Amino acid sequence: MRRLIEQDEIQQRVLSLGRELSELYRGRDLTVIGVLTGCMLFMADLVRAIDVPHRIGVVQASSYRGATTRPGELIVDTGLLPDVRGRDVLIIDDIFDTGRTMQKLVAALRSREPASVRTVALLIKEGRSEVELQPDFHCFRIPDVFVIGYGLDYNDDYRHLPFVGALDEVDL
Ligand code: IMP
Ligand code: MG
Repeated sequence: MRRLIEQDEIQQRVLSLGRELSELYRGRDLTVIGVLTGCMLFMADLVRAIDVPHRIGVVQASSYRGATTRPGELIVDTGLLPDVRGRDVLIIDDIFDTGRTMQKLVAALRSREPASVRTVALLIKEGRSEVELQPDFHCFRIPDVFVIGYGLDYNDDYRHLPFVGALDEVDL
C-alpha cells in the first residue's frame, strides 16, 4: 500500500472546507446527509468544522463491490433519511468515481422537496465520471487508482485508517 494523502493534509483541507460551508449556510436550515458507510470519518470531521447549527442524517448506498474494485448493482436505502422538506441539504460522500451514486442520491433527495441540494466528496477520481453532475465541493482530486482509508474500504477492510492510501494491482 502507498500513502497518498496524509492525515494532516486531510485535516487542514477539511477545516478550510468547513469554514467555506459555514459562510454559505449561515442563517440557513441545513441538514448534512452522509452516505454510509464510507462517509463516516470524513463526516465526523467535517461537521465539527462547520460552525453553524445543522442536523445530521444518513442514507445508505452500496454498489456491492465485495472483493472487487468494479461497481456492481447500485442500491440506495433511504429508510434512515430525516425529513428535509424546505431545508438545505448537503450530501457527503467519500469518493466521486463514476458519479452514479451521487446522481442517484441527488435525485432521491430532490424528490423530498428540500430548499436546495448540494454535494461534497472527499475525493474525485480523475477521468472516471459517467454523469453530467460534478460535486459542488471536494477536498482532493486523485488519479485513477483504488484507494482505501479515512472511511474508504476494500472488501470492508481499512476504513479506520486516518490517511488515504492506494492499493496496487498486486494487493487487489
Ligand atoms: P460511483 O457511484 O462510481 O461514483 O462510486 C461511488 C462509491 O464507490 C463510493 O462511495 C465508494 O464506496 C466506492 N468507490 C469508488 N472508488 C473507490 C475506491 O477507489 N476505493 C474504495 N471505494 C471506492
Ligand atoms: Mg461509498
